[in-house]
Amino acid sequence: MDTKYLYIYTIGCQMNVYDSELFTRILAPSGYERTDELDDADLVIVNTCSIRQKAEEKAFSFLGRLVKHKKRKPGLIVGIGGCVAQQEGEKIIKRMPHVDLVFGTQVIPRLADHVAAIEKNRERVVDVSTIPLMDEIDPSDGPGEQTGISRFVTIMQGCDNYCTYCVVPFTRGRERSRPPEKIIAEIENLVENGVKEVTLLGQNVNSYGQKEGLCTFSELLAGINGIAGLERIRFATSHPKDLSDDLIEAYVTLEKLCKHIHLPVQSGSNHVLKKMNRRYTREIYLERIGKLRERCPDIAVTSDMIVGFPDESREDFNATLKLMKEVEFDSLFAFIYSDRPNAPAVRFSGKVDEQEQKARIKALLELQEYYSRKKSDAYLGRVEKILVEGVSRDQDRGKTDAHQWTGRTSSGKIVNFPAPDPDNEKAETYIGKTMDVRIEEIFANSLRGKVVS
Ligand code: SAH
Ligand code: SF4
Ligand code: F3S
Repeated sequence: MDTKYLYIYTIGCQMNVYDSELFTRILAPSGYERTDELDDADLVIVNTCSIRQKAEEKAFSFLGRLVKHKKRKPGLIVGIGGCVAQQEGEKIIKRMPHVDLVFGTQVIPRLADHVAAIEKNRERVVDVSTIPLMDEIDPSDGPGEQTGISRFVTIMQGCDNYCTYCVVPFTRGRERSRPPEKIIAEIENLVENGVKEVTLLGQNVNSYGQKEGLCTFSELLAGINGIAGLERIRFATSHPKDLSDDLIEAYVTLEKLCKHIHLPVQSGSNHVLKKMNRRYTREIYLERIGKLRERCPDIAVTSDMIVGFPDESREDFNATLKLMKEVEFDSLFAFIYSDRPNAPAVRFSGKVDEQEQKARIKALLELQEYYSRKKSDAYLGRVEKILVEGVSRDQDRGKTDAHQWTGRTSSGKIVNFPAPDPDNEKAETYIGKTMDVRIEEIFANSLRGKVVS
């Protein structure tokens, strides 16, 4: 079989990163090898995200660029997967006739068959069936070709929460959890192949297994904590309404669970939270954070915020700023509200003017900068355990240095440091090691230190 080349452009969340890895694995038996060179590709797949208008535009602008590639190489197969594919289906082919394949988020196991049919018949295929097939894939079969010591593992798919701004319940379907045995087998396999850290993925990991009557999320964590050779466990995302006391205790009892929680709050105003259908109040959120910090004082807390949600008044926005002052997040992802098809908020009145939205996000980010800096400054002089992930691409100093290593603290802060013995040719042996590093300098996006011991 001739080698054919597969180029994947991944947009969106960690779920898509994980799925792109699955595409690679599923297409390998058909002779496809992944390439980073678009010009070499025989098959291009765009794995798309629909969370905000901008993400969707990014997919279409990339697809647009492929017209000229296809002119040059008429045999090129162009496929689109992910959340925009699920949402738009047939419409994509009408809008972009050079697209050969549209496949949704639930039919990934059929990907190889669809590609084979296109190779043979040169006919377009659209498959956005919503009957989930995903459970048929067993990612514990093999490690895949993605390297590195840190990997994503999807533990559940879909979402049942229906936040009024969000497309995910429509693009990913109902919430479904994978059985714990499969998850553990997959991680054991990764660990045998050198992986030291896993990030468990789900839209609302706290409700893991509840629907299916599997174990609880903290029980799953305890099981994973027992895997020999695994060093760190992370997860995303937890929903504040389901953050249970036993998960808080897991931070105390499970030594591999990293001291970081990403707990998206979205707004500090009860009026807005209600319209978002988040099903918690600012008081509940603050109570949960208080409890977390009481049990685990050094835990890092990060969050997501949406500004300019329909009907968000100045007062509502001020309540968000006030909550930020009360919590002091380690870092924050902030987004301007974006109207999405299917999401109920599209029909809400009181849309906030774009200039006002921009002014609010600017004010919010300025305030956050102060707290991010304050949180980072607290690391100065501390000795932290750093799991070394690779050679540093030092954002803050604008250079890549073969003798400069990078990794993260348990709390998720990026730390760069010079190799203890730069002359050692086998310097890559640091990767995957945990080293004690004293923090000596603080930058905006990273810390810098020196190995002690
Ligand atoms: N399941 C996760 C969120 C996944 S989406 C959770 O519930 O927290 C990631 C983030 O994108 C959300 O937390 C939210 O802040 C943002 N987001 C989602 N829909 C959005 C929209 N329509 N406009 C702007 N931001 C949005
Ligand atoms: Fe979207 Fe809400 Fe589900 Fe998160 S919990 S994926 S924001 S619907
Ligand atoms: Fe985007 Fe779909 Fe993830 S909409 S954020 S790729 S679940």
